[in-house]
Parts: sequence; structure tokens; C-alpha cells
Amino acid sequence: HREPVIFVVSNRLPVTVTRTDDNTYDVSSSSGGLVGALQGFAGSTEFRWYGWPGLEIPEQHRAMVEEKLATQKAYPIFFNKALEDKHYNGFSNKILWPLLHYQADQIHISKEDWTAYQEVNRAFAESIGSEAEDGDIIWIQDYHLLLMPQYLRQVFGDGKRIRIGFFLHTVFPSSDFFRILPVRKDLLESLLHCDLVGFHNQDYTHHFLDCCTKFLHLDTSGSQVIFQDRKVNLLTSPVGIDPSEFRKLLDRSDVKQRVQGLKEKYKGVQLIISVDRLDYIKGIPLRIEAMDAFLTKYPNYADKVVLLQVVIPSREDVKDYRGLHNQINQAVSRVNEKHGPVDMMPIHSLFSSVSKAELAALYAVSDVCIVSSIRDGFNMVSLEYVVCQREHHGVLLLSEFAGASEVLDESVSINPWDTDEFADAIQCALTMGREEKTARWESLNKRVEQFTSKRWGEAFLELLKNSDHGHTARH
Ligand code: G6P
Repeated sequence: HREPVIFVVSNRLPVTVTRTDDNTYDVSSSSGGLVGALQGFAGSTEFRWYGWPGLEIPEQHRAMVEEKLATQKAYPIFFNKALEDKHYNGFSNKILWPLLHYQADQIHISKEDWTAYQEVNRAFAESIGSEAEDGDIIWIQDYHLLLMPQYLRQVFGDGKRIRIGFFLHTVFPSSDFFRILPVRKDLLESLLHCDLVGFHNQDYTHHFLDCCTKFLHLDTSGSQVIFQDRKVNLLTSPVGIDPSEFRKLLDRSDVKQRVQGLKEKYKGVQLIISVDRLDYIKGIPLRIEAMDAFLTKYPNYADKVVLLQVVIPSREDVKDYRGLHNQINQAVSRVNEKHGPVDMMPIHSLFSSVSKAELAALYAVSDVCIVSSIRDGFNMVSLEYVVCQREHHGVLLLSEFAGASEVLDESVSINPWDTDEFADAIQCALTMGREEKTARWESLNKRVEQFTSKRWGEAFLELLKNSDHGHTARH
């Protein structure tokens, strides 16, 4: 018998595989909050990470890709393109993502996508279920794999003593909105086959409990749901980052040089940074509108402030994402034309992935960071900025709609829809006195050091290990 294994499963692996022209494969780091969180806790806990490699890989190349990924402790699960397209671009990103983030207009219900979602979840369950043994732990991540717990229990039958945990990295919306989804009951019931289900903040946990009561008519007590005579535990536990990773980057000589270079380049102007995946939940157009309002109200800033907007390409096969790119470009040009002296545009927009080292340098030189999400499960950028501001104590403007705002309560809170207030908050951040900045930063930094991804992962697994084991106790 081998030692018990922890299986972590997410649709997105820490590395994404791409095919090169000569039919070999490259691996590059994946972006997004979930990958960041799991990487942060990978240093302290041994686990096998299963997921989708990011593209279709023909049979004859699969062994080669497996070998490449094994060096990163990543285990790929392969799908053909058509199926994964309906699962990932379809059900996950055209139905679940907008549903979870309250974006009714972006929800495009499709039966075919639902069938593919079931199929992919079943394939994940069969592949991992067949490797799991008594005493193992399976920890499933995020909305792409909501049906996996139920399929796993089917694969195990009554025999195996395996604990299953699930963590949702997105918002969980109120029952009134979740009601939109025709298959709402199937998803809720599947999750109740877990021993432990986790969310980033209290609201999301309450919404889930409320859905269990309203749609499944189940009894709940405190943070437990009673399902088929078992107690399913719910946990509220905000994820965090690994602050030491950014500290180490800032100590590197190449990063220090880059910081110096940026400081010289932007001498005499105050820098505002924003970093987002290109996603309609990030409130990018609203941020541009607020910049417009700010420059209109305080025109003297036109050549004294630059917003450096890093936009990371994401989900480009989904139509609603492509449209957003054009909308953002047009809005940026409009604001630059309106307020910018010819040689000094107030918004610099970069549409590209950026290395962590470059990000650390950008965070470090920026006087202000804006996170303007209209909904956001957590938001790691806000924490990354704080860690990188150990010298300058820059100001964080954080949307009250980001899960992280529950943790970072010394940030300057903004409602991204309230353009006037948002514009004034920008002005307030740019003029804030040193003492206030330091006081705010110190308390924010304490929270970032306290809520690390390591603590988050270890705490979840500890609770999962100690959960009732109701699934086998019954038999
Ligand atoms: C969010 C989701 C993650 C996802 C990430 C990047 O953070 O919660 O599950 O991995 O976005 O999106 P992508 O579609 O590229 O995986």
C-alpha cells in the first residue's frame, strides 16, 4: 500500500500547453486567481495536480506531453477539441460564469453545452476515481467541475473511504439570481456529495445555504446542510497569495533595475496601475469612465498622471469577451484624445500577458492601484499590490464588489458605478498624506501576511481530513 495521496483537480493546470510550428509542445505559466492560490500552497503541501492541458493533443503526442508536465507535478486529462469547447467556452464560460457573477445578458443557455459539461465532469471523475484509494483526499476546484463530486461517489460505490472537498473561487450569487439556471438542482445536489464545500466570503456561503433550502428543501443548521442523512460542512475561508514570492522578486537585481528604469521613465508623473484578465466582471469600462470624470473635474492632472492598464488576454473564443476588447480600446482612445497633450497620453493600455517579475516592478513603482471589478470572487491583484508597496505605501482603491474587500478593509473602498465618487477617490488617493498612507498600508499588509494561500490550503485540508466521513459511515 502507498501513502495517502492528495489529488487537487482544476480545469486549468498551472501551465498551459501550446503547440509549436514544428509539432512539439511548449509550456507556459497560466494566469488567473485559482492557479496563483494553488501555487502558493504547493510549496508546503505535497499534492498531485490534475487538469486540462489547454488544447487538444493527438493520441500519439500524449505520452510526450505527460512527461513534460510530470516535471511540474501536473497530470493532464485529455479531451477532444469539440467536447472541451462546449464544456469550457460553452457551459462554463457562457452560462456558469455570467450566472455566478450576476450578468444576465451574457448567459446563453444551451442543452448541448450542458451535455458536454456532464461528459467532461464524468471523464474527470472516472480518470481520477480509478486512481484514488482508501484514505486519499480529492480536492476539486471551481465552477468547471461542479458535477464531479456526485460522479466520483458513483465511481467509488459504497466501498471506498475517500474524502471529497470542493472550493468555489468565484462569487456564489443570491438564490434569486441562481434561480435562472434550469439545472440549478443538479449542481447543488452534486456539491452535497462532498464532505466539505468552501467559499471566499460569508455572503457566498449564505447564498449557497439559502439555495439548498429554497430549491432542494433541505434542512440546514449553522454552516451545515443535511443531505441524505449526512451533514455536509460549509466553510468560509478567503484565499490569499504567497507574499514571499513577490518579496523575493523585488529583491532580484534585474527587477530592481526595471523598477529604476520605470521610475526614470515616469519621472514627474504619478502612476496608477491596474491589472486584470480581459473580463466583463473586472469593470474596465467603468474605470475608464472614472478616469474621464476625474480628468474633467481636475484638468490640471492631465500631464501629471498616467494610468497603466495591463489587460491580460482571456477566453478569446467567447464572443462576449472579444467584443469587450474593442469597447475598451475605443474608450481608451476617446479619453486620451480628449484629455491628453499629444506627447503624454493619460491612459497607457497594454494587452498582453506579463511575467510575475514585470508585474512586481509595475506594482512597486505605482502610487495607486485600482481594482474596479463589478463582481469578483476574490481578486488577488489587490493583495499583490500591497506586498509590493513595502517602500512607498501606495494607495489601494478596491471595489466593494470584490470578495477581497472583506479582508482588506483599510483600502479606499469604491463603488465602480458611482463615477463621481470614483473620480474623487482617485483624486483623494493621489493627494493622500504620507502618514495616512503608511497607517493604511501597515494594516493592509498585516492582513496579506495573515491570509496567505498556504494558510488557506492547509486549513481547508485539515478540516476536510477531520470531517465526518459520513459517506462511508452510512454503509
Ligand atoms: C478565474 C476562475 C479560475 C480561472 C481563472 C482564469 O480566476 O475562478 O477558475 O482559472 O479565472 O480563467 P481561465 O478561463 O483562463 O482558466
